Amino acid sequence: MKTVPRMTLTQFLIEERRRFPESGGDFNSLLLNVALVCKRIARTVAAGELGAATGSASVINVQGEEQKMLDIISNDFFIEGNHWGGYLAGMVSEEMELPYQIPSGYRQGRYLLAFDPLDGSSNIDVNVTVGSIFSVLRAPASDRPVTEEDFYQPGTEQVAAGYAIYGPTTMFMLTVGRGVHGFTLCPQLGEFMLTHGDLQVPADTHEFAINASNSRFWEDPVRRYVDECLAGKTGVRGKDFNMRWIASMVAEAHRILMRGGVFLYPRDSKDPAKAGRLRLLYEANPIGFLMEQAGGAASTGYQSVMQVMPTAIHQRIGLIFGSKNEVELIERYHNTPRRDDEPNPLFKQCGLFREPA
Ligand code: F6P
Repeated sequence: MKTVPRMTLTQFLIEERRRFPESGGDFNSLLLNVALVCKRIARTVAAGELGAATGSASVINVQGEEQKMLDIISNDFFIEGNHWGGYLAGMVSEEMELPYQIPSGYRQGRYLLAFDPLDGSSNIDVNVTVGSIFSVLRAPASDRPVTEEDFYQPGTEQVAAGYAIYGPTTMFMLTVGRGVHGFTLCPQLGEFMLTHGDLQVPADTHEFAINASNSRFWEDPVRRYVDECLAGKTGVRGKDFNMRWIASMVAEAHRILMRGGVFLYPRDSKDPAKAGRLRLLYEANPIGFLMEQAGGAASTGYQSVMQVMPTAIHQRIGLIFGSKNEVELIERYHNTPRRDDEPNPLFKQCGLFREPA
């Protein structure tokens, strides 16, 4: 029997490029080099304790978080793999305080790259799935050094976004604005092969993901939503829900792309100085773009996350994404708060929180 050969990522991008005969190939070079960087990170992550890259770097990054050796190494791979190519005007990373300037010896390009080199890296030491997330924007037409303001573009301006997931298999998930496509790394060929074309997130789900240890800090609409899920068949939702929390957003986003679900890391009152936990430019926007392209949704709770105008490169934001009907329901709860005379299911018999005596 003759089998149809699978398409490689390179082939896929060349096919896409045929639709833009005027394009010079920079966009494809950028995406292929990002994919190459991800393969390099995948190998380093997979070496685990046998490699030389585990453990803490004993450094606190610009986010106030402890950097792992692998955070730093993955960041270096992104820089080394992309700064020479002539297609970038600058880069922003979770691990760097300021935008990275393209060194003077290299050509200044037409795109901007924002990335989280190793998302979920607190899971590294326990061998749980992690990943890299990236977002591509257009750079302003100018030869001057890139500024933070150049990155202040809403998610709707992204021209590509994706992530690589380093799990039992390594996958590269990509949107260039025409659906979401998944490529599995073939260990024999060292190539990403198209295995999951045109993914669709089911509009309904019975699975939600939230860090429930933060429940005392949640705003009422989030508590209401979670409590209604927990009430299951006997509550207003009339069905039982499952809960998941991996603490690695890439892994949660991947599960949701594959089978639906909803993820919440909402704005809360834990640290009033922070508008949320996740970062807009290199976490929320790329995941938002992927979700929307797969028929799902992504919201701050109050509005589509992709419409938020950034005001800082490391800006944090509340993020809720996944199955469209659930995200829309949660947004409705935020935008039309309960009236005072409405019964609050949180304080009912089956509620999370009992009415104080
Ligand atoms: O940087 C973000 C991240 O590691 C996400 O991947 C994950 O969803 C979240 O932080 C986990 O946060 P927490 O430890 O509060 O559950």
